[in-house]
Amino acid sequence: MTSQVRGVQLARLLGQWHALPGRRRSPDYAALAGAVRGLLADGRLPLGVRLPAERELAEALKISRTTVTAAYRELRESGHLASRRGAGSWTMLPGTHRVASTGLWTPLDDRDMIDLGVAALAAPPELLPAARAAAEDLPRYLGGAGYHPTGIIELREAVARAYTERGLPTSPDQIMVTNGTQHALDLVLRLALAPGGNVLVEAPSYPNALAALAARRARITTHGLAVEEPGWDADLLLGALRQARPKLAYLIPDFQNPTGHLMSAALRERVVATAHAVGTDLVVDESFVDLPLDGTVLPPPTASFDRHSRVITIGGMSKPFWGGLRIGWVRASAPQVQRLAAARVGVDMASPVLDQLVAVHLLADAPAIVAARQAQLTAQRDALLAALAQRLPEWRVTVPHGGVTLWAELDGPISSALARAAEEVGVRLAPGPRFGLDGTLERFLRLPFTLPAADLAEAVGRIAAVRYDLDRGGRSQWREPAVIA
Ligand SMILES: Cc1ncc(COP(=O)(O)O)c(C=O)c1O
Repeated sequence: MTSQVRGVQLARLLGQWHALPGRRRSPDYAALAGAVRGLLADGRLPLGVRLPAERELAEALKISRTTVTAAYRELRESGHLASRRGAGSWTMLPGTHRVASTGLWTPLDDRDMIDLGVAALAAPPELLPAARAAAEDLPRYLGGAGYHPTGIIELREAVARAYTERGLPTSPDQIMVTNGTQHALDLVLRLALAPGGNVLVEAPSYPNALAALAARRARITTHGLAVEEPGWDADLLLGALRQARPKLAYLIPDFQNPTGHLMSAALRERVVATAHAVGTDLVVDESFVDLPLDGTVLPPPTASFDRHSRVITIGGMSKPFWGGLRIGWVRASAPQVQRLAAARVGVDMASPVLDQLVAVHLLADAPAIVAARQAQLTAQRDALLAALAQRLPEWRVTVPHGGVTLWAELDGPISSALARAAEEVGVRLAPGPRFGLDGTLERFLRLPFTLPAADLAEAVGRIAAVRYDLDRGGRSQWREPAVIA
């Protein structure tokens, strides 16, 4: 299936492509091709999308058609574009690349890359014993067919208990186990949002959530978050809900990705009340709720202010435990869970029993595992902050008191240019615009602190070096890379 990006849409995504730092010597067509490759590399332009006709893009960018023709030719030569006469040109994965764990493209030989594009930890040591114990449990399930559309009862009980202990009484029939939080979001959107529905999201927000919304062709209204605490502006957020009256709002109140902000109890209560008043369903993503740092006390769960089944909560094992487990869940009313289960059997039937049993064992050991994760994340965050203060003191950061990412405000609108330059020196970055819509957020960069401290310090050193080279423009370390992905 090929979808099409229109000239004006691509122009918006490309933003200030012609004025990116460090391109003084490269001709326009090469800069344009490089900018399109940048969009492909960081996922803002998907695989298999039909690009606008040359004339249409030239008009949208207000440049000559010859420049677009030359840029498309270069993209064809580098393997990023396929064209057929009469059928147009569509984006493709160059043979020298593969799809990486992030879902983004990466060169085949990127094994030494310090990957700051992923905000997730390696597995904890407890994972292997949990997997062995799960294998021991498996015979209990082997007598049945193994399909449990809402999840195995032991895991639903464990997840429900955890909510109850957080002050949100929950029964197992309010839990549906999914293959990760992303899957939970996709299922909820299928249920709660008709194609083309109106949705409110934070800006910045989690890119794969934006991708899931794009797949539903959602019409998106954004609420801009500030870099500094508290992040959300209560009046603006409630005003946006009242004005846009979206069908659904997707929020990450607990250590928001990417900013790390934590929404106050008072605002949670007001958001839930306003959502109910205007008829909006809230999808609350709690991916990072288990990872408060510095002894931060969590406000009550957002759903605890809900009296009308307006809040659907999604969460999972990926951030506190391991992404490779692919276990997440939805917490909703029991009838909503049944409807989700009915929708789910048309997608993937059920989650793997063995993996669910591994999750049960990990959750039983959660306090110890999570405490170790928190200590590790605190040390790594502090190492990252120290490296930034030393090597990039012009950047503005707010210390996140939870989660796994910080959101840096840069000293110029250079995020995409920096990401491309960093790739050249073995650091993968997720530039700011990936977290928003329409090519904005070029002044921002998300930096996760999920890698060991030494890797973080090394990465910041390399980023600082290419940052200063960007300013030297013409002499450019920042040349057109041979392959960008
Ligand atoms: C806010 C948010 N939601 C969902 C996900 C996806 O999580 P999962 O691996 O459980 O699908 C992530 C992962 O980074 C995330 O940050």
